[in-house]
Amino acid sequence: MKRQNSAARAMPLHDLHPEPDDLHAEVVAGLRARQKTLPCKYLYDARGSKLFDQICELDEYYPTRTEVGILSDRATEIADAIGPEALVIELGSGSSTKTHRLLRALRSPVGYVPVDISREHLTEAADRIATRFPDLPVWPVCADFNAEIDLPEHGIDGGRRLIFFPGSTIGNFDEHARRALLRRMRDLCEGGPGRLLIGIDLIKDVDVLESAYDDRAGVTAAFNLNLLHRLNRELDSNFEPDHFEHRARFDSDASRIEMHLVSQVDQTVEIDGESFAFESGEVICTEHSYKFTIDGFAKVAAEAGWSLERSWTDAEDLFAILLFVLN
Ligand code: TRP
Repeated sequence: MKRQNSAARAMPLHDLHPEPDDLHAEVVAGLRARQKTLPCKYLYDARGSKLFDQICELDEYYPTRTEVGILSDRATEIADAIGPEALVIELGSGSSTKTHRLLRALRSPVGYVPVDISREHLTEAADRIATRFPDLPVWPVCADFNAEIDLPEHGIDGGRRLIFFPGSTIGNFDEHARRALLRRMRDLCEGGPGRLLIGIDLIKDVDVLESAYDDRAGVTAAFNLNLLHRLNRELDSNFEPDHFEHRARFDSDASRIEMHLVSQVDQTVEIDGESFAFESGEVICTEHSYKFTIDGFAKVAAEAGWSLERSWTDAEDLFAILLFVLN
């Protein structure tokens, strides 16, 4: 039997009605470009999300478990550095799994504001947090964090704002978008002593990096290729996923892992009556994952007004969690 009476509820959803995706327009625009690209957000349909969960369990994929390890091992230090009465705002909160650790460690947090574009994930995750932390007000906000975010006027005006952005998600933004996002995070703290707790993946041995994005069991390859299956399902398209191959390369000049789907033959794909030609060896770019040094990232963040206060890493310096304060 389901126990329902013990479940606490989050506050009503604050819905900013994010612009719905236009899959067709974005895919076609990406494939018309000289360097063909597909938007990485479309990797995460139901099957893609399952595959990504499996990626996070792989030996080769160190970021998730390393970040969770730092959050757990250094929880007290992190909580002390943040101080009491934080209002935690998480952008792209998803299932909020990492947040449990943070909220447990913080001293008398005044509220949790998960911001996510998916209403379904958001509501479920917010109710889960509300159940787990019955004294903590939870204010879910449905919004696209790449657009402007207006937080609800009342209720969440207290506390010291802490933006939480784990997962090295910042590494999936190219330079321009990264700057814009760091500025938007600053604007979300307007009028108070704002802080930012952010996870970044560190530059390391190329083999370690490349195997994290191209595992032996082929889960990452399946994840990347699933995008083509998804397009065939949701658009009138005829990709032959078997005629593409997953590839992950570290570009050390750009300091990023580049995820590619490489055409294995000369081929033509039809999408809603429009033809797209792929030469053998031609590449579709599906995602960039930037890797940083702590100093390098601190410089970028400084341009958006953030100064580095503290940093925590694991014993092998694979990943870092940084705490910034507005200057
Ligand atoms: N945000 C994850 C990262 O950069 C996403 C990711 C992991 C990913 N493996 C991937 C994206 C493979 C595309 C293909 O680490």
